[in-house]
Amino acid sequence: MKMKIFLYKWLVCSALLGFTKAFGQGNAPQLGKSSISEVIGAMTLEEKAKLLVGTGMKLPSISTDGSAIGHTDNEVAGAAGTTLAIPRLGIPSIVLADGPAGVRIDSIRRGSPKKTYYATAWPVGTLLASSWDTELVTKVGTAFGGEARAYGVDIMLAPALNIHRNPLGGRNFEYYSEDPMVTGRIAAAMVRGIQSQGVGTSIKHFAANNQETNRFTVNTIVSERALREIYLRGFELAIKESNPWTVMTSYNLINGTYTSESSDLLNTVLNKEWGYKGLVMTDWFGGDDPVAQMVAGNHLLMPGVEKQTKGIIDAVKEGRLSEKVLDRNVAVLLGLILRTQTFAGHDHGDNPDLKANALLARRAAAESMVLLKNEKTALPLKSTDSKIALFGNNGYELIAGGTGSGDVNKAYTISLNDGLTGAGYQVDAELQREYTGYLRDQALKHPKKSFFAEIMNPTPPPAEFNLRSEVVARKAEESDIAVIAIGRIAGEQRDRQLAGDYELTPAELSLVRSVTEAFHAKNKKVVVVLNIGGVIDVASWRTSVDAILLAWQPGLEGGNAIADVLSGKINPSGKLATTFPVSYKEVPSAKNFPGRDDPEKARPTGVLGAKLPPAEVIYEEGIYVGYRYYNTFGVATAYPFGYGLFLYRFFV
Ligand code: GLC
Repeated sequence: MKMKIFLYKWLVCSALLGFTKAFGQGNAPQLGKSSISEVIGAMTLEEKAKLLVGTGMKLPSISTDGSAIGHTDNEVAGAAGTTLAIPRLGIPSIVLADGPAGVRIDSIRRGSPKKTYYATAWPVGTLLASSWDTELVTKVGTAFGGEARAYGVDIMLAPALNIHRNPLGGRNFEYYSEDPMVTGRIAAAMVRGIQSQGVGTSIKHFAANNQETNRFTVNTIVSERALREIYLRGFELAIKESNPWTVMTSYNLINGTYTSESSDLLNTVLNKEWGYKGLVMTDWFGGDDPVAQMVAGNHLLMPGVEKQTKGIIDAVKEGRLSEKVLDRNVAVLLGLILRTQTFAGHDHGDNPDLKANALLARRAAAESMVLLKNEKTALPLKSTDSKIALFGNNGYELIAGGTGSGDVNKAYTISLNDGLTGAGYQVDAELQREYTGYLRDQALKHPKKSFFAEIMNPTPPPAEFNLRSEVVARKAEESDIAVIAIGRIAGEQRDRQLAGDYELTPAELSLVRSVTEAFHAKNKKVVVVLNIGGVIDVASWRTSVDAILLAWQPGLEGGNAIADVLSGKINPSGKLATTFPVSYKEVPSAKNFPGRDDPEKARPTGVLGAKLPPAEVIYEEGIYVGYRYYNTFGVATAYPFGYGLFLYRFFV
């Protein structure tokens, strides 16, 4: 009997000891109480390796309303990734969430059916940059950071600041400009705003990631001068003017080395030359060799896969990787964790002021829009008794932002039709019925797929509704003015096309032609609104219309913001941060975008071992990107960098 009692007591004690060792009791150093080096001294090799590799990414679950695009099931469902918790050392798991236009998390969560977690879809980067107003951008960043804090996000994977090297870049909407100075200043303003709320940022994608084609394997061949003066300069400015908590390396290679594996880029340029001491993380599944990434100064591998952890542990055990490198990287990560609201135990509440943020999103969008043309005082729209004939699918379905990780689960989107109606204008009812009916039918025929399916194989937007010519003629009789909305959407994993994307589709050209003929015959004006994420052709049709407002992708309140400008309530003060060329073939990078690949040599590559072709893109134009090219070589443009009109009111 005594033996049984002894055994029982022994079992209980060893279980307790194991429990305390595992769960942070006992005398193990605690992050925040003990020094970082003491905490590291108490860590096992496995704990170090696991901490430097994210906890992984679950394929997004799709909720009943189709909006949830969750990556993780942790406390902040839908966030892009988390780091490992090590409770015995007082190390919590921190939360990283996309993206540059808003907090991207699941809008509804299993287990809390009565609550929603919608976020503000802010105006996209390209629109905010058109404001050239760093104070405004910091205001947006502050509200954006407050929303991230409220939802329990520790690091926003934003801002994105790659250069608009070519108009067809699929993610240009997320980026700011063709110019590194504008890029760096606007990015720094956004970082200051977000970080003022105790939420970190991750300036991305470092560096020279200016296309989506072959993004995981493309080798960017670029001169040192162009690299430094054009593609790194914006990051350098953002770092020196706002000290972002983290930097995200890009997928691509630069001159033969993955950026996440490049000691030149990370240890030398970022850390030694620029004095940057923050954390560097990979893009999701970026790069290939975890040992090279560790050595290069890419501290954290996201979202994290088991084979990376194993690769690091094996390399240390086999003497191919010094544990001191891990200790250096762990120290940087623990220093970051100490700054987070999660470490502070902040009760985030999940109740951001979405109403106030929506109003700010609306004002920021309107103040950033660019008036490209306004002849015969077509704008501002006359008093609200004017009857408006609103043409174009996009007039009834606003494109708030782009697709992929730069998208946001928003509660609503205000269309231009909603915005004009809300501003008191009479939008033609027959056209409302025709367009909304057509769009509803199209949505039923082509339902949205899941998040990843949309990234890999996006559902094309419905073809431009083919309005009968007698309807257009009748509207020219009945209405006072015509407004034509033209929209474009793009996002990660895919670059844009020339035909029907950069160029207007035949149906769009026919609509512009028929509406301008009919309305000009009645001496009535035609206004075009561009709700686009990247530069399109304007030279082939702009002479036939009276006014053009470039709204870019204005966020969830877009329709109201556009109406605020069309009505003259807000004077558009936006200026182009990226050139509109006369034709695509004059774009300096046109002849080698997006480079070339070699499908026959496709082989299992990178973290996921996907079968991908080697690819290469040569930045032959060097520093001559955007206005640097057009101005230097005297090439005329449709609308130059810095261009934008004001809307004067001749009456108060
Ligand atoms: C994506 C994007 C990056 C994003 C990350 C997490 O592939 O390139 O911008 O932050 O993965 O979703």
